[in-house]
Amino acid sequence: MIDNIVIFDTTLRDGEQCPGASLNTNEKLEIARQLENLNVDVIEAGFPIASPGDFEGVKLVAQTIKGCTIAGLARTVKKDIERAWEAIKYSERPRIHTFIATSPIHMQYKLQLSPEQVLEQAVEAVRYACKLCPEVEFSAEDASRSEKKFLYRIFEEVIKAGAAIINVPDTVGYAQPEEFGRLIKDIKENVFNIEKAMISVHCHNDLGLAVANSLEAIKNGATQVECTINGIGERAGNASLEETVMALHTRKDIYHKVTRINSTQIYPVSRLVSKLTGFTVQPNKAIVGKNAFAHEAGIHQAGILKERTTYEIMTPQSVGLESNSLVLGKHSGRHALKNKLEEMGYTLDKEKLNEVFEKFKRLADKKKEIFIEDLEAIVSEEIIDKIPETFQLDYFHINTGNNTLPTATVRLLYQDKKFEDAACGDGPVDASFKAIDRITKFKLKLVDYNVRALTRGKDAQGEATLKIRDEKGNIFTGRSTSTDTLEASIRAYLKAVNRIAYNSQFQLPIVS
Ligand code: KIV
Ligand code: ZN
Repeated sequence: MIDNIVIFDTTLRDGEQCPGASLNTNEKLEIARQLENLNVDVIEAGFPIASPGDFEGVKLVAQTIKGCTIAGLARTVKKDIERAWEAIKYSERPRIHTFIATSPIHMQYKLQLSPEQVLEQAVEAVRYACKLCPEVEFSAEDASRSEKKFLYRIFEEVIKAGAAIINVPDTVGYAQPEEFGRLIKDIKENVFNIEKAMISVHCHNDLGLAVANSLEAIKNGATQVECTINGIGERAGNASLEETVMALHTRKDIYHKVTRINSTQIYPVSRLVSKLTGFTVQPNKAIVGKNAFAHEAGIHQAGILKERTTYEIMTPQSVGLESNSLVLGKHSGRHALKNKLEEMGYTLDKEKLNEVFEKFKRLADKKKEIFIEDLEAIVSEEIIDKIPETFQLDYFHINTGNNTLPTATVRLLYQDKKFEDAACGDGPVDASFKAIDRITKFKLKLVDYNVRALTRGKDAQGEATLKIRDEKGNIFTGRSTSTDTLEASIRAYLKAVNRIAYNSQFQLPIVS
């Protein structure tokens, strides 16, 4: 029989939890919109008790996204559950996801609770959550290192208390496929009331086995998989959504399962997540890496030309890979732009469309051909990623060469006044960033910086992505595109600086 596998996406919770990934509420909403287009069944939008920003993000997603269940995470304590409910209650299909650790090591050292106390807390939490919310999921954190008999017992009790989904996380990515499959089979056979609940799995990738473990669990009776776009998440990440889904789609002969995922939306959402989190996707990453469908060896190219299936088990189109496809040109009008953006999953109101159109026209003057990647960059900079420009770039001048000390002069606008400074550096980029620091007086450390060409061609735009750390250790991302890579870098740096200013409502120590 062909069953449906429920795809539970936790990019906005477990994915966002990893250092340096933090997203603002606008960015979370845009990712949620694309996840809705992708047709995921459940979006875990965040951990509402974790911070006011997290709460607002979950609430906004719950208020806006109608096509899927919206879940909010909560520990097994009343205040977490209430906060989660406050955020998700706007959804048409809300779910409270409550968790507590069940392994001896976590119970003894982290929670300092006895198994009986953990059991009691779990049951109470599920019972309370069920009073507030029509659907409740319970997770036994570190399940793969828990004692099986205890797991059966806690699952039986939470199902009695009303949990409709029981989740089996391999929290530290320790399990091996056969062993994890066996655990699911044993849960199915030994939890007496299991037919009243759905079995879910949540695998981490510390040994590179998150997808393999999830697939083995499906073979053994799991019907929900928790995963993230591009596999982002704590430490080595979570099971990647795109790999899990495409394995199920491509090897129906083995799994006999279907999902509701519209796989042609995989590539656009992967690019959006990478752009907004600042985590680039490795070129050889399965399904969404730049080289995933590139055939370099002559013998492979010859084979592909004769018969595609010689070296391709999926088509690039099936995952929405239309990279480098020319979409619009200098003479394209507002209507053509609007249609193309809608095809890409962006529905903009008149005012936003006008802003994007203006930027598009300016770019089309500099660059003959406009590709999907160019449009994505405009939308993300002008709409999704828009934050108040506390500091605006007015002017820069850079002096560099192979036998010169690179120097940069930068002028910024701040509260309608002009501030100018100059600095030397190891290179032109370093000099420009130092000149900006001299104006803002921020003490920042650049922790990550990369520039890449967005599309092919000599006139391609360069996209600069960087991360900076402020004095308190917080990480801020900035990204910008331009046909001039130095300008892209300076604007990306200012984006990150403006994020700091915006986040802290900072009174700037600027000297006039
Ligand atoms: O990895 C984990 O155990 C989790 C739970 C909260 C589900 O993320
Ligand atoms: Zn996790």
